[in-house]
Formats: sequence, C-alpha cells, structure tokens
Amino acid sequence: MSRVTPNYVCQSCGAQTRQFFGRCSSCGEWNSIVEQIPSSFERNRKNQRRSSSKKPSEQRSEPISSLQDEVLQRLSSGYTELDRVLGGGLVPGSLVLVGGEPGIGKSTLLLQSATAIALQESVLYISAEESAQQVKLRWSRLEGKESNLQLLSETNLDPVIQELETLKPAVAIIDSIQALNDDNLSGAPGSVGQVRECASVLQRLAKRQNTTLILVGHVTKEGMLAGPKVLEHLVDVVLTFEGDRFASHRLLRAVKNRYGASHELGVFEMQGNGLQEVRNPSEIFLNEKSASGIATIVACEGNRSLAVDLQGLISATTYASPRRTATGVGINRLHQILAVLEKHMNLSLSRHDCYIAVAGGLEVEEPAADLGIATAIVSSYRNLILPAGTVLIGELGLGGQLRAVNQISQRLQEAERLGFKRAVIPQGSGVKSIKDEFDLELLEASNIAKAIVLALQVNPERDC
Ligand code: TYD
Ligand code: MG
Repeated sequence: MSRVTPNYVCQSCGAQTRQFFGRCSSCGEWNSIVEQIPSSFERNRKNQRRSSSKKPSEQRSEPISSLQDEVLQRLSSGYTELDRVLGGGLVPGSLVLVGGEPGIGKSTLLLQSATAIALQESVLYISAEESAQQVKLRWSRLEGKESNLQLLSETNLDPVIQELETLKPAVAIIDSIQALNDDNLSGAPGSVGQVRECASVLQRLAKRQNTTLILVGHVTKEGMLAGPKVLEHLVDVVLTFEGDRFASHRLLRAVKNRYGASHELGVFEMQGNGLQEVRNPSEIFLNEKSASGIATIVACEGNRSLAVDLQGLISATTYASPRRTATGVGINRLHQILAVLEKHMNLSLSRHDCYIAVAGGLEVEEPAADLGIATAIVSSYRNLILPAGTVLIGELGLGGQLRAVNQISQRLQEAERLGFKRAVIPQGSGVKSIKDEFDLELLEASNIAKAIVLALQVNPERDC
C-alpha cells in the first residue's frame, strides 16, 4: 500500500499544517500537533476493512424508559482481584487499557489471565515487544496449561488486524499499543499519531466483532499514561498497575471504568511463579510492633477498606529551614496539618524536621487520613506510643475541627474485622445509629486536641 501524505492537526485549536512542529504556530500550545490520516484515505480503508458494508440505518431517538435493559454478560479474567477492579469481569466488546511502569508485571498479569481465560474461551495474545520464544519461556515459568491460547509476535498493525479478523477471539491482548506500528503513518511507533490511529482502528474492530481488547500502555516519567489523552477517552476501562519496586506487592487500580466503580483496588504479590492474589491486603499494610510515631488509619479505595499504618518522625532540625518529606501522602496536606497542630495544639514544629510515610508503598490521598497523620506527628514529637488496637479516622479542618468522612460505617467494619478495639472518629458522623452494630469502642471528638487526648489517653499539652 502506498504511503499517504499525512496531515498534522493541532489537538488544542484544530489548526492544520503539512509539517510537524513542536509548538502550534496558531495557538502556541506545545506538543499538541498530531499526525492525521487524510479523511478520503480513512474512508477507503474503512470500506476495505469493514466485512459487512451495511448502510447506516436512519436512527431516531426513543424514550429512555422504553429501552430494554441489557444484562451485561461478564467474562471472568480468572483472578478475583482483577475481576473486582474490572467491576465484576471483562465485558465482551469492551476496550481495557492497562498502564504501568516497565517491569511492574503487566505482561505477567495479562499472560496469566490469558492462560486462565483460554481454558474456556479463545484468546489471542499479541506480543509486539517480545519474541514468541520469550513469551513461551515466561508462559512455561508460569506453569501454563494446555489451552485455547494463541500467540502472535508482531509489530505491524495490518497482520494483527488480519489475525484478529480470522480468529475472531473472545479476548485479545496487545502488549503493547506503543510498540504497534501502522505503515501508512510516517511517525515512529509510540508517537502520538501512531498510538491514536492504531487504537482507534483496533477499537472499531473490537466493537464490530465483539472481541474484548486489552491494551498494554506505557507510562511517562511522571507516571502518566503515555500517548494521547484521546487514548484514555477511547477505551472503556483504564487500569493502572503500580507498586513499590523494592516490595513484592503490586496494586491494580481502576482509574476509569464505564462498567463499574472507579478507584477500585486489587492487590497482588509478585512471586517466583508469577503474580499471586492477596485476599486480605490490610495485613501487608500493618506493622505488628507498636512504637512512637506509628498510627493506624482505615483508608477507602473504591469499595474496599484497608487498614494502613502511617509512620511519622519528628526531630530537631539542623537545617536553616526544616525538612518536610511525605511518602504516600501529599506534601501540601502535610504542611497544612503541621500548621493546624502548631496553631491549635501549641506544638512548636517549625524548628523540627518532619517525615511521614505510608507503610507498604500505598498512596493515601483522601482527607480521612488527616487525623492519623496528625496523631503520628504528635506521637513522635512527644515520644508517646499509641495504645494497641486503636484506629484513627477523620478529616482535619483549618480551624482544628474534626470533620466527618464518607463510608465511616465501612471503615469501622474493616477495623473491627481486623481486631481493633478502639476507633477515634469525628463527632456527628452519624454513628449514633450504627453504634450498636460495632464491638469497637467508638470515641467521638469534635476537634483535634480532644481527638489526640482520646487517642493517646494522655494530654500531650499538659502531661508531657
Ligand atoms: P513484566 O511482566 O515483564 O513487566 P512489564 O510487562 O510491566 O514490563 O514483569 C517482569 C518482572 O517481574 C521482572 O522484573 C521479573 C518479575 N517476575 C517475577 O518475579 N516472577 C515471575 O514469575 C515473572 C514471570 C516475572
Ligand atoms: Mg511487558
């Protein structure tokens, strides 16, 4: 097929050029120009590839209430943790994008899942990054069994499409979309134009033949999914695979899900024979020993609650301006909490370095962790150990008041299940009605000073 002269279009203002520029001369936006196939060519190719040349029927609108409910037939991925993140399993004809840093285990997870699905359905694994031998080697290591799993090692889009059209598999995995290359475009594999074009051709094909497509995507240095934003808009589900390189567990998170709740979390552990599911993840985020500076919170990730240990270290500074380091917690959040403690608890923290870390490499973004962070700081500052079996739940207002958090009942249930005895929670969390449900001792506080007194069972302002 002859190469087509490409057009370049600014994704920000729509200006068209014949040449690629790093900056749009029309609107001044950087990195917004992408390659685009001329529409006449696009139309020809669509006609070529479309097996059924149906004329578009005249579509009319209809009352939403009269539409028939369609029951989603989900396909299990073979792993409960993966199914949970997907919202109950793979939906036929849907597009799933799995992103993550190199070496985190994307290929391992998908090969394991492909092997499990292939016991019932036909699966095509397209490896654009590794040779067939490499994938086979990994498959043998993962103790893959005889199944319906087909393997194709190819980087060119056209043979990939052909194979998909011939086999019509129930599930196809493309590892990775950045390594795929459309010969009709001049850009290098992984360039914005290539990724966008390959993904949209594959999407049309997947919807047409009801194949579930799982695309592996790279992430940039900043941890964002590489490629155009349009890729994320195009797919139905975006999952990110993350974790501490130095720890063995991996977190799979739904960032976008058209068929289920987003921010759902799945936990895996990398072992010698592949990724194993972790059914009780709170265990890996909890320390057994108690020491000063350790406080336990209950974080909510989607529909899942996790008890997580926070560690704080406060020490007199030797620097001109004190150091503040936060791992797993936003640094601005830490600054805000330090300011509240300074103002409302009379702690002179401005001459102290402050380090906060979340155990197990988890990222806790929600404000419900505020009380835990504040308690870890006070506990380290005053060298007080939090009584065993205490969890802290609450958001801190700038005025020192403790504010109610969402899903309190679910958090308390998780704490109780894990054997915690006391929970410090904001006053007015609506717990009056749920108090009888729990064996936990519920300690309600309206502000930070009261909460810390209840948590540490001493008054850090008076007794220390
Ligand atoms: P991989 O799936 O190749 O990562 P990605 O596709 O995200 O780049 O992950 C490979 C890493 O996992 C590699 O560092 C080796 C490790 N690993 C194990 O520890 N055990 C195993 O059974 C397998 C297959 C890989
Ligand atoms: Mg890989």
